[in-house]
Amino acid sequence: MATTTYSKLPLEGAVGKPIVRRSGRAKVTGTAPFTAERNLPGLLHAVAVPSTIARGKIRSIDTSSAEKMTGVRVVITPDNVPEFKRIPTFNEAMKESCLASHVYPAAEREVFYAGQFVAAVVADTFEAARDAALAVKIEYEPMEHVTSIEEAPADERPKSLFGAPPVIEIGDAVSAFDLAEVKVDVNFDLAMNHHNPIEPHAALAHWSHEGGKEHLTVFETTQSLSVSQKTYEKLFSLQPEQVRVICEMVGGAFGSKGSMWPHSVLACFCARVAGAPVKLVVTRQQLFGGTGHRTPMKQRVALGANRDGTIKAIIHEGVATTSEKDSYAEAFTMATRMMYQTESLRLAQTQSRIHTQSPTFMRAPAETPGMFALEAAIDELASELGIDPIVLRVRNEPEKSLYEDKPFSGRHLVECLQKGAEAFGWNERPREPRSQRDGDWLIGTGVASATYPAMFFPTQARVTLRAGGTAHIDCCSQELGTGTVTTQCQLLASQLRISASRVSMNLGDTSLPPGGISGGSATAASVGGAVRAAVDALRKKLIELAPSDSSLAQARVEDVSFKEGMVSVASQSWPLEELLSGKFKDEIAAVGQFKAAKDSKTSNHSYGAQFVEVAVDEELGLVRVRRMLGCFACGTILNAKTGRSQFLGGMIMGVGHALHEKTVWDHRLGRIANDNIAEYHVPVNADIPDMEIMWIDEPDFNASPVGAKGIGEIGITGVAAAIANAIYHATGRRYRDLPITPEKIII
Ligand code: MOS
Repeated sequence: MATTTYSKLPLEGAVGKPIVRRSGRAKVTGTAPFTAERNLPGLLHAVAVPSTIARGKIRSIDTSSAEKMTGVRVVITPDNVPEFKRIPTFNEAMKESCLASHVYPAAEREVFYAGQFVAAVVADTFEAARDAALAVKIEYEPMEHVTSIEEAPADERPKSLFGAPPVIEIGDAVSAFDLAEVKVDVNFDLAMNHHNPIEPHAALAHWSHEGGKEHLTVFETTQSLSVSQKTYEKLFSLQPEQVRVICEMVGGAFGSKGSMWPHSVLACFCARVAGAPVKLVVTRQQLFGGTGHRTPMKQRVALGANRDGTIKAIIHEGVATTSEKDSYAEAFTMATRMMYQTESLRLAQTQSRIHTQSPTFMRAPAETPGMFALEAAIDELASELGIDPIVLRVRNEPEKSLYEDKPFSGRHLVECLQKGAEAFGWNERPREPRSQRDGDWLIGTGVASATYPAMFFPTQARVTLRAGGTAHIDCCSQELGTGTVTTQCQLLASQLRISASRVSMNLGDTSLPPGGISGGSATAASVGGAVRAAVDALRKKLIELAPSDSSLAQARVEDVSFKEGMVSVASQSWPLEELLSGKFKDEIAAVGQFKAAKDSKTSNHSYGAQFVEVAVDEELGLVRVRRMLGCFACGTILNAKTGRSQFLGGMIMGVGHALHEKTVWDHRLGRIANDNIAEYHVPVNADIPDMEIMWIDEPDFNASPVGAKGIGEIGITGVAAAIANAIYHATGRRYRDLPITPEKIII
């Protein structure tokens, strides 16, 4: 039964402790199994052939030279691609398909973007496949392409923004803005970004026969094992028991492994035609063409206010790109719905279609770009009004979510701003910009708010209690490097009142109970909800198991508690061993299911505040981030150490978004010019200053079954605005285009 709020969970014991992540040692010693390192007997290697044109038709593919090369087994082209079904993408059927695009590898005679996999070579070794891939000769008939957001028509409305309409109006914001006493009306321009996780995307596919039935096993890099399994079922008309997907570790993803890209499908094609297991690893260069990106965006934010700082009108609109064949929509106006009290609000997005692979989620897909524009505009309004930006934010703090017309599940934004301000020393900053110097460096500080929704995906988990006092979780979730295994073991340990070291967990395999997508910062709360439900199911089983004359047999589920291998009701306890004896041997297991309540009575989001100090050298065009502080309210923090790492990682990625990351296009060719991490810049250690992470430790049981709202993404949101605002405070100049690179700063 769906409930609107969740009962409290005693979270004493292991929860929250800064326990070292379980996979840490395996990772630093190189023994953690990543997909590209997997091997099977008789394994062959595939290398994809990417298109060199951005749009057009394939006239011919000549594979004769490639096929003659040493070690080459087969070349896959539209002429010999095995049978498959064209299926909906995740945009159309999120629960059944995580396919990112309608454009299939080695199966199209049309090209929709440069880097599209038009063929593949399978060979005995990776080197042989790579050589032969260069020898596949393709003749194209090029057609006109457009890869620039400036040149593409921008009048199409996206169908939906993650379920929300592309236009939202409360009151008449256009008129209210016109009439406002103080106005800010500014435009922001954001570059395209690519995720660039360290671990390459990869898939190893193996077709076999088991019990007279065809069977497909895929090792792949994915944030979404269970949906991946369903996608293969649909693509190849298989039953669930005929498909197994395995992914024990993910080496960074940031959304780029949340949907299925062509290389995974291509590995299955190759393995089928070659009649052997085939591994296909996406190169860094191919990642730029083929595995999604954050779209470039143009945004306008117009704010109208009274002289006292009361906001009367908020307009947030703009355009993002999508691909010709697909419909991913970057929902950059979403966060503006519930950040400020206002009488009128207008949010409106359009999209333009360019010849790229489909864009996709990239760490806080809606909030990262949207909060940059909104929070930079708020800072401009504060300057116009001569009001401190924190005071302005607090003055316009809403009592409820305007768009949803619901109270907040737990907001604490003002506390984050105030607690952060105190720790950062915000109030010592001079009001006037351009008034602090350190030698050649101009010094400035900036602040911005952060937010991310509390999201959940349906998840099942099996919990096993063993007579020896240990416990185990089985769930087909994913380990993205966030510490899922560590934190879930802590969560179960605290419900059983045992040490976390007595709990183990298996994930990353579709033979386990189905988990949800590890996206939307949803894993901790969704898996946690399923684990919690499994513990309740175990309580019920133990009641049934109890001798009929005992008080346990009469107990209500919520009265049964655990501690150190004992099962208790009020002051009476029974050793688990005794209850199990003879019936279940030495263990008892139950599966729990979690699905978020549809009728939540609250607006469920996390909030935070970002503080930054920068130093700017205008002669050399340098911006150095000197200090960063983030204060967050995300409900329960399940592990203080892995949690801190999540916030740090998000904030560091925010530095990249603000100052470094930009995908550069050669629009004449319709190709990416900096498709490598020498020229696509991400922050390195030298770019990262002293960082301080704080949080408001308060479980949110209105939003979440375990009080935790998820922390993977909120850390990046607001960072770019805080940095741009700090650069303004240092220099007196506004920078509204990201990334803020040296040539923009230099005077
Ligand atoms: Mo996250 S961008 O939803 O993987």
